[in-house]
Formats: sequence, structure tokens, C-alpha cells
Amino acid sequence: MIAAYRKLLSLLSPREKSRLGWVFLIILGRALLEVVGIASVFPFLSVVGNPDLIYQNRLLKWLFTTLGFLSINRFLVFLGFLVLVVLICTNLFSAFSEWVLYRFSWMCNYSLSRRLFSAYLARPYVFFLTQNSATVQRNVLIEVRHVVDGMIIPGINVLVGIAVIICISAFLLGVNPLLGLAVLAIIGLAYGSIFLFVRQRLRRLGQVRAEADLQRFKISGETFSTIKFLKLTGRINYFLDQFAKASHKFSNVMAKHMLMGRIPRYALDIVAFGGLLLVVLYLLVTHQALGQVLPVIGLLGFASYRLLPAFQQIFSGLSQIRFSQASVDIIYSDLQAPSQPLSSFEIIKPFSAKEKIELRNVSFTYPGSNRPVVSKVSLVIPVGASVALVGKTGSGKTTIADIILGLLRPNEGGLYVDNQKLTDELLPFWQRSLGYVPQDVYLLDDTIAANIAFGIPKDKIDMEAVIEAAKIANIHDFVANLPEGYNTRVGERGMRLSGGERQRAGIAR
Ligand SMILES: Nc1ncnc2c1ncn2[C@@H]1O[C@H](COP(=O)(O)OP(=O)(O)OP(=O)(O)O)[C@@H](O)[C@H]1O
Ligand SMILES: [Mg+2]
Repeated sequence: MIAAYRKLLSLLSPREKSRLGWVFLIILGRALLEVVGIASVFPFLSVVGNPDLIYQNRLLKWLFTTLGFLSINRFLVFLGFLVLVVLICTNLFSAFSEWVLYRFSWMCNYSLSRRLFSAYLARPYVFFLTQNSATVQRNVLIEVRHVVDGMIIPGINVLVGIAVIICISAFLLGVNPLLGLAVLAIIGLAYGSIFLFVRQRLRRLGQVRAEADLQRFKISGETFSTIKFLKLTGRINYFLDQFAKASHKFSNVMAKHMLMGRIPRYALDIVAFGGLLLVVLYLLVTHQALGQVLPVIGLLGFASYRLLPAFQQIFSGLSQIRFSQASVDIIYSDLQAPSQPLSSFEIIKPFSAKEKIELRNVSFTYPGSNRPVVSKVSLVIPVGASVALVGKTGSGKTTIADIILGLLRPNEGGLYVDNQKLTDELLPFWQRSLGYVPQDVYLLDDTIAANIAFGIPKDKIDMEAVIEAAKIANIHDFVANLPEGYNTRVGERGMRLSGGERQRAGIAR
């Protein structure tokens, strides 16, 4: 658990870490103030019940005389207002601390998911050949949330709970050491042993949850991408079953996790009440004087009233942390992984061929495979030539194209442009000079203009350039005849266009 927190802390920026410190202090302040707020009501009530206390208690007497009160009733009204002000202040502070906590946790959620998203975008192309996109989506959307809600917030709660317990214990031990020790030992042992019993289970449940979430993402994505085929072939049930299975597993695990975090509360309430009852019975049976019995009962009552919730807070915090630990491992390793610098569309000057593009002795093996797909291939493409790669299916044509695009890096040999070897540094400049039309063009659910000017913000689109490109790709006439022209929306994956129109939009890009 400590190792998980070390990882988690290394993921936070220095600013977030110092914020975390503040949040902890504020939450701790709230917990202690709440004790004070509740505590301040009782002295007031006892003064109302017994006004003579004003003369017996030194503080009250001092207040009464210094402020120059003449009647006891007025003083009581004053004390009442004082208590009210304390209550208002503690409640305002509680509301403020809540705001601080929510803001902090959602801002962590924002910054972690943004960083993870950009870390994935910075991974080399081969990474995406081995990863299912559902994993990436789940990590960015779900796992980050589990890290924040299941580790950061419960971590704060556990520390605050410990601080509250220390305060109450000091009080208890001061008043009645033997009884205090007994109470602490019983509650502590009970919670401790329940936690030892469930901790492994919680961790396993956490892993099952992550796996089930992955399945849910994967199946829902796949189902709606192949909906046309599914409708046609009537194989919808298979996908529905798969989704139902994963969802059921997920819900089952979540219910168990929630239950495990709360169940000891009920057990401990019984233990506490039973213990109280036993002590009272014992004291009565041994015929102790009521004057001696009452303070003991009062102390026990106070202990179970304040101490049990604090223990419960720690327990449920720890159980959430165990459950969410898997998420930290996932996010940590993916944020640490090697990345390529993200190249921006605007800042880069293209680097294009003037004479020739050349592959020299290139070999390539896909990661995880032991057979080279391309082996010692050399070829020269002069500028201005039209070249077709012809070969059997699976012989490596697309692989060679991807090597020329710089998406795949050769294991041996190299790609040369005008006799200059393309290094990792040159690659973004090279790629900026390339045009590429894949066989299956992916269109965004946006307008035709936005699809041609792919990835350029709406207000920066140069409409003349878009129309020029559309004319070259032979799609301008079609677009010009649409009622909304270039502002026509194409639907998800360009579903409202024909296959050829989709490809032409891809060429215009
Ligand atoms: N990501 C990958 N990991 C492992 N092997 C791969 C991967 N991608 C492709 N291959 C294998 O590499 C070989 C070459 O694939 P490639 O896509 O280059 O073939 P191709 O010549 O374009 O075939 P086609 O004419 O069918 O498009 C194939 O045997 C394929 O199974
Ligand atoms: Mg191919």
C-alpha cells in the first residue's frame, strides 16, 4: 500500500502536492472543529440547567464579570448567541472544506486524465498495434477516476481519522487509562482483524473490476461499430450476452466492494452496545454506587459515539484504497512509458524529397513476432514516379508503406531521403510533407469542411484551400449541390456518405 502511494505521489505535480497538504490540513481542521462545535453545546445546556455554575466555573465567572453583566438571564442569552456563532462558524468551515475537497479531487481527475491522454498520444505507432483502444479509453476515463476517488480522497480520510482517534484517545486515557485502553484495544482489534480478513479479497475484487470495465468498453465499442452487419446477420444476441456478462460481473463486484467497506459498522455497533450493557450489568451486580457507575457509562457512551465513526472512516478508507490499488499500477506504468515528442501541425516546416526516396537494406519484425516481415529490402523511388507495390497477400506491402511513412521504424537498414538518413529527429518534418489516403478513411462526425481540414480548429479553416482541395479530389460538385454545402454533417464515421465520397473526402485531406 505504501508503494502504491509512493507511485501516486510521484504522479502529482509539485503544485498538486502542496495543494494536497492544504486540503489535508483543512479537512483535519474541520474534523477537530466539529468535535468542538458539538462539545460547546453541552456546557451551555448545563449552565442553563444549573446557573450556579457561572460562579463555580472560573472561565464563566471571568466572562460574566469582565463583560459587566448584571442579570444572569442576559448572560445566558449572550452565551446562547456565542454557541450559535460557534456553530455557524464550524458549519461554514465544513461547507468550505467540502468545496475545497471536491474541487481538488476533480482537478486531479482533470489533470491526470489529460496527462494520461497526452502520454498515449505520444506513444509510438507500434504501441497501438499491440493495445486495444478499449484499454486506452478505460484507463483515461475510468481508472483515473478510481485513483482519485479510491486513493487520494480515502487517503486523506484515513489520515484525518487517525488524527481524530489520537485526540479522543488522549482524552480517554487521561480520564480513565484502564478503561480507555480496554476500549481502544477492543475496537482496534475488531477493525484490524476484519480488515486483515478482507484485504486480499478487496484487492482481487479491484482487479476483477478493472477487467470487467475493459470488457464493457470493448464490447460496446465493437457492437456499435459493426451494427450494420449485426442487424443483417441477426447475431445481435451474442454481443448482447457478452455485454450482459461483463456488466453483471462489474455490478456484482461493486456491490461486494461496497458491502465489505460498510459491514463492520454493524458488527461493531453490536459489539459496542453489548460491551456497554455487560459493563453496566457487571457494575450493577457487584453493587457499585451509582455515583461511580455513571461516569464510566458516560465515558463509554462518548467513546462509542466519537470513536466508532473515526475507526469506521479509517476502515472504509483503507478498503477503498485496497480496491483501487490496481488502477494506480495501471496508470503509473503508462505515464512512465517512453514517448515521442508530440509534433504540432503548425510549428513544423515540412522536409520533402527533391530527388529520391530510398530504402537501404531494410528489415522489419513486428513486436512480439519472431519472423521478419520485411527482410533486407532495398528500393529507390525517384521524385515524380508513380510506384505500385505488388505482391501476394501478407507479403509486406502495407508494412513497407508504413516504413516509408515513418510509422514503423526498421530494425536494420534505413530510410533515406536525398541521401540523408531519416533519424527520429527528422521524422516529424518528413511526415509533415506526406499525403496519405488509407483504404478505409475515417471520417469525423462533423461537417464536410471540418473533415477535409482534418484537425484544424473551426475558426482557422481556410475555406478557399478546402474548396481547392475538394476540386482536385473531384468532390466539389457533389458538395456544392448539397443544401448545406460544406456545412453538411456526414454522420458517425461518415455514414451518410457513399464509400467513394468518403474516399474522395479523404483524398482532399
Ligand atoms: N501488428 C502486427 N503484428 C504482427 N504481425 C503483423 C502485424 N501487422 C501485420 N503483420 C503480419 O505481417 C505480414 C505482412 O503484412 P502486410 O500488412 O504488410 O501485408 P500486405 O502485403 O499489405 O498484405 P495485403 O495484400 O493483404 O494487404 C502479414 O503476414 C501479417 O500477418
Ligand atoms: Mg496491405
